[in-house]
Amino acid sequence: MTSGTRNKIGVGLLAAAFSFLVVAITAALWHEGKSRADPDDRGQVALGKSVYAQRCAACHGTNLEGQPNWRDKLPSGRMPAPPHDASGHTWHHPDTVLFGITKHGLVPGKYAPPGYQSDMPAFGSALSDDEIWAVLAYIKSVWPEKIRRAQADLTRESRQR
Ligand code: HEC
Repeated sequence: MTSGTRNKIGVGLLAAAFSFLVVAITAALWHEGKSRADPDDRGQVALGKSVYAQRCAACHGTNLEGQPNWRDKLPSGRMPAPPHDASGHTWHHPDTVLFGITKHGLVPGKYAPPGYQSDMPAFGSALSDDEIWAVLAYIKSVWPEKIRRAQADLTRESRQR
């Protein structure tokens, strides 16, 4: 083999390695930017809609409207279920918080002040992670575009922290 051929092979390998790296990094960034609860994924939203009807609608409302007078404490001293549509504050939270609250409940000291008591159940043993992401995708799918984008920004910022 002449040294010229060897150089060509070397350059070729280097170029191949470089292209591989570019593709890998692009794929990783794309994955990172994409939420696991995707309101544009019709299959995920359809699954989430049925999970919502069975597990969430009784408290959060058939149309995600929440319980009546949801801003006022109940006689028990606890809070009613807030709406999940754009009129509530669900969209004020990034994905990880919504997922955590649904899976573990309003854990005092983590998602609520210490000692906080809540009627929100923990769904960790009733729903799989995929079902929880699906229900969140469904909830997002009813938000107007502006609210969706605001919550997506929050989710992205919370990842960078
Ligand atoms: C038994 C009634 C009940 C059911 C069923 C229920 N929730 Fe809740 N949920 C609540 C209540 C009450 C709150 C408000 C808790 C508080 O502030 O103490 C709440 C709060 C939440 C919050 C926090 C919202 C915010 O803006 O801070 C999320 C997220 C949530 N629920 C998701 C769900 C999902 C998803 C389901 C179905 C898988 C579900 N909940 C089923 C009663 C319920």
